[in-house]
Amino acid sequence: MSPEPFVAIVTDSTDVFKPEIFKGKVLFCTGGGSGICKSMTEAVMRHGANAVIVGRKLDRLTQTSKELSEATGQTCIPAQADVRQPQQLKDAVAKTIEKFGRIDFVICGAAGNFLASIDGMSENAFKTVIEIDTLGTFNTVKATLPHIRASKGSYIHVSATLHYKGTPYQVHVSAAKAGVDALSNVLAVEEGPRGVRSNVIAPGPIGGTEGMSRLSNQTVRKEDGDSRYPLGRMGHLKDVANATVFLFSNAASYVTGQIIPIDGGVEHMRTFQ
Ligand code: HXC
Repeated sequence: MSPEPFVAIVTDSTDVFKPEIFKGKVLFCTGGGSGICKSMTEAVMRHGANAVIVGRKLDRLTQTSKELSEATGQTCIPAQADVRQPQQLKDAVAKTIEKFGRIDFVICGAAGNFLASIDGMSENAFKTVIEIDTLGTFNTVKATLPHIRASKGSYIHVSATLHYKGTPYQVHVSAAKAGVDALSNVLAVEEGPRGVRSNVIAPGPIGGTEGMSRLSNQTVRKEDGDSRYPLGRMGHLKDVANATVFLFSNAASYVTGQIIPIDGGVEHMRTFQ
């Protein structure tokens, strides 16, 4: 399978932040080979950090690492691991430390998704998504926490807004992401005294992502002037990128245990049709 074309999304969009605020910092990102987490990694690298992207598909990780390194002038390396396998994550962390000597930021973004009703979903299908999203986040935290404590670093967990209401055909992801939100809150409270922060970014309808294309027919959605969105448009990858840079920056040094929907206000909109 050929890798997706590189989308340079944040060159202009995160210019509100100074260019080198993450100089000398290191990001560890699961799910960074594609989609939202690739864009989040790009944004952090554009502000001076080096990165390790973690996933199951080494070919895609290798290609993405090359693209991100060339686009940002920083160094990105791949680390192959399935987040359901604690030892593989520990090996990825060891590779990170060997290469860069530290970890300052972690993005827990590896996720699985497909549409299936409760009736049509096997026990193993439900368990698989819980294991990737929720257990995978726990495993990532366990593997990285000693290094995040040492750097007084910060976590961002990539969740969703699906579970705020009953979203059909999404029982597995809804349950899994509710668990991720809870995990982040506990992490924030337990590790706050050690200077570690933990927050959640909950992307809503973000155009051009695998999640959106799986869940919605994008062809019927307009980019601008769409009354289904309070802000008149779907989200962009750059909207998530900006929130990422903010949460990892010192500007957010008193922000922890928060869940930040990047959804253009959709979750607050009631229609009477
Ligand atoms: C029903 C399915 C299925 C489907 C898999 N299964 N796909 N059941 N409908 N479309 C079932 C299988 O039959 C099997 O159960 C079990 O799930 C495990 O499947 P495997 O393929 O063996 O597992 P694995 O190789 O580990 O891969 C599972 C997966 C993958 C990671 C979930 O199928 C997948 O969907 N990958 C896409 C990743 C993705 O889309 N990431 C972006 C997430 S976006 P049985 O009983 O047969 O053994 C996101 C945010 C959402 O999460 C918010 C958007 C707005």
